[in-house]
Amino acid sequence: MSQKTTPIVHTAGLCKVFRDFWRRPKVAAVKDLNMEIRPGQIFGLLGPNGSGKSTTIKMLLGLLYPSRGRIAVFGKAPTDVSVKNRIGFLPEESYLYRFLDARETLDYYGRLFRLPERVRTHRTEKLLDMVGLRHEARRRIGEYSKGMARRIGLAQALINDPEFLILDEPTSGLDPIGTRQIKDVIRELGRMGKTILLSSHVLADVEDVCDEISILYGGQQRAAGDIKDLLSKTELTQITTEKLSEETIEHIRDLLTRLEKKDIVSVGAPRHRLEDFFIQVVQESHRANIATSGVRAVGEMPDFLGERTRSLVQSLVEAGRRRDVAAPTGGEVVEPAPIVETPRRAVVEELLASAKEDRRAPEAQEDSPPPAEGPRRAPVEADRAVIDGLLKGSGGGDHSP
Ligand SMILES: Nc1ncnc2c1ncn2[C@@H]1O[C@H](COP(=O)(O)OP(=O)(O)OP(=O)(O)O)[C@@H](O)[C@H]1O
Ligand SMILES: [Mg+2]
Repeated sequence: MSQKTTPIVHTAGLCKVFRDFWRRPKVAAVKDLNMEIRPGQIFGLLGPNGSGKSTTIKMLLGLLYPSRGRIAVFGKAPTDVSVKNRIGFLPEESYLYRFLDARETLDYYGRLFRLPERVRTHRTEKLLDMVGLRHEARRRIGEYSKGMARRIGLAQALINDPEFLILDEPTSGLDPIGTRQIKDVIRELGRMGKTILLSSHVLADVEDVCDEISILYGGQQRAAGDIKDLLSKTELTQITTEKLSEETIEHIRDLLTRLEKKDIVSVGAPRHRLEDFFIQVVQESHRANIATSGVRAVGEMPDFLGERTRSLVQSLVEAGRRRDVAAPTGGEVVEPAPIVETPRRAVVEELLASAKEDRRAPEAQEDSPPPAEGPRRAPVEADRAVIDGLLKGSGGGDHSP
């Protein structure tokens, strides 16, 4: 299986300096950032306030020009129209029209991506279900609580079934149930093969969903890598068993001293996480039919998301099986390669590489906006300009190179 695929994001020596009115350097927001996000990764961008996370995201979206360094998204300049069509974005600040209701909002964004009406309606209903807002869909966004607006923001970011999803503080303002639901959605999207960049201050959320992280401080990357490697305490060993008696624990202590000349560091019962306990209490309240005007239980993942990825996974698995059957070596008994158990990332990397060649599957042709080339280029670019305008309204400022 070829492992060499174009990264979804690649930056090299990326810098952003904001300048004052006289073009004197005012703030060095991002300094010499080297970052790579590979297909299928859920990547966490962390750092204290003002450390450059949103500025980095805006550069990835082509909303800000870098002052120095290189940046490529899907191997192209972030300003490339074809790149923008493959990205979904949830900005850190709400940017939705207060006077539209949730359905109108999703329909509006579907129109910007030039989705046909049938597709828009289908996706809108599925996404409303997914974020648990179908019952509140006729209310104006301006009336929504912060968490409800965040949910619609996430639905909006998914309307074009993007391959790369950028989420700036996706759980901000959400209650613990909403937070859990959004994390489940993110994990599910990851399983579908989507690539996700997540910026958040809620470290537990990042720990729960991300494969890899980067920690910024003062615009500089201070730590980066696989989250398991970064967090595992390799100098300790943990064994979890059913509850043991004091006597057995003493035996184990003796054994450890005898065999390893080591002592037990701690003994105790692991605790439930507060998130799990809280969700259990709320689910019981829901089952008891206690009235609420808030968010209801969320529905399933929309079926349209990841259609292309799913069919590609299937074809790869089948191709892999055929390879196994067709290529025995010198009469040996060959163990079938663990195609189905292949780690998600490896499968997805290969898939996305081949998907690039095969991007316009029949369904995609119907669903996707027309290509940037040809006679329809101008309207598409006009629509993208509208989107960019909206996104800029969320806090992007400086556009100057
Ligand atoms: N348009 C702008 N003009 C001038 N300075 C800016 C602009 N946007 C961001 N900055 C500055 O760049 C630095 C990084 O800001 P950024 O918004 O990227 O931080 P962040 O990591 O997203 O912070 P937070 O966690 O608060 O969202 C800050 O000092 C900020 O004041
Ligand atoms: Mg920010």
